[in-house]
Amino acid sequence: MIKAVRGTRDLIPPDTDLWNRVEAKVRDVLARYNYHEIRTPIFEDTQLFSRSVGEETDIVSKEMFTWEDRGRAQSDKTQSLTLRPENTAGVVRAYIEHAFDKKGTLQKLYYIGAQFRRERPQKGRYRQFYQIGAEIIGPPSAGSESPARDAELLEMLATLLDEVGLRGWQLQLNSVGCAADRARYNTALREALAPVVHQMCPDCQRRAETNPLRVLDCKVPQDQPIIEKLPRILQYLDEPCREHFAAVRAMLEAVGIPYMINERMVRGLDYYTRTTFEFTHGGLGAQSAVLGGGRYDGLSESLDGPKAPGIGFAIGEDRLILALQSEGETAAEKVQAYVAPLGAGMNVHALKLARELRRAGVSADLGDESFRLKKSFELAEKAGARFIVIVGENEVASDQFAVKDLASGQQVQVARTALPAHLRNNN
Ligand code: HAM
Repeated sequence: MIKAVRGTRDLIPPDTDLWNRVEAKVRDVLARYNYHEIRTPIFEDTQLFSRSVGEETDIVSKEMFTWEDRGRAQSDKTQSLTLRPENTAGVVRAYIEHAFDKKGTLQKLYYIGAQFRRERPQKGRYRQFYQIGAEIIGPPSAGSESPARDAELLEMLATLLDEVGLRGWQLQLNSVGCAADRARYNTALREALAPVVHQMCPDCQRRAETNPLRVLDCKVPQDQPIIEKLPRILQYLDEPCREHFAAVRAMLEAVGIPYMINERMVRGLDYYTRTTFEFTHGGLGAQSAVLGGGRYDGLSESLDGPKAPGIGFAIGEDRLILALQSEGETAAEKVQAYVAPLGAGMNVHALKLARELRRAGVSADLGDESFRLKKSFELAEKAGARFIVIVGENEVASDQFAVKDLASGQQVQVARTALPAHLRNNN
């Protein structure tokens, strides 16, 4: 038997009802904040990710699905392609490619789609997973650098999670400063690590050389006491970065968004500057980040684009669904009516009636004239229908239908024209 590949999974009903409900709500909230959808390709030139996410990150160094794409004709070049491990790089590439900066305004772009990372699969961690993300990006003259963007984005996320119905979330906030701050912080980290790094895990020993900031990401228990004593990034911010972060915090406090500072949160991607954040949830176990994001002021330039500061986030949709389910959210959307033809020749009448109901906005399932009444009732219950509508010879002749409320057991006769209202209102 051929099965779904390790780390991938089918999303099936009733869960997909919940996925769709969440996506509809998200689109609704994002529209209210004037975001518009962008759809970028699922695969891109490998360099896009190595130059933006960073060579030294786990994502680029170990987790990408990359292949050499041979040209179809001899004149076509072989190209290294990669399934997108995240979507920010693709959005910024599109921003540059379509010369969005010429518009002079902020671009507020969102996406919903599959991402791919060859991680070790576990609960909340898949090799194909789904992100709902958004980016605010534009020239500095449009206000893209302002701490007001950070605060507006974080306020929007708090609203979005509230409206989706997630309760127990926590916002963790940090600033990783600008490139110069990080250079100074990296020097300080290297100095602090030098006398102790030999006691740490092999990954940390390597990172201490190549990218000491990543040491803070280490989850190995024995390394934690050493990491706790390392210098803290917020002490290394220059004045403009310090002021920017203070302004973000003041605005969050003014609108009443609770947060906690987590100076060890460096995030798994290299493009970040200044504000970084994660929203975590207790129902998720080890993979506790429902979403992550931050500011990336130099990213466009590093991809040969114009100066285009930006900030964005990506929700792990798989994890958002798990978190909602851990709070007792259930999925199934119930069908309102089960239309049951009773006796030979009744299929066509039932089809006509079901058509009328559906066109009037009632969700309806349709049975078959070969089913006996008992079987129709069983199927209606299995379908989770609230009502069963019997379509027999008498009903067709009188245009009055026997309608049974499967919840209360009550049965009434309802005229054809009154049916949609009856089935809708009683639901
Ligand atoms: P990220 O932190 O790598 O950031 O991913 C964002 C979220 O995607 C995570 O918090 C998690 O919920 C989910 N996620 C990541 N990997 C997996 C996985 N293997 N299985 C299930 N869920 C996963 C980014 O991707 C950035 N592009 C976010 C961003 C947008 N920053 C600025 N703009």
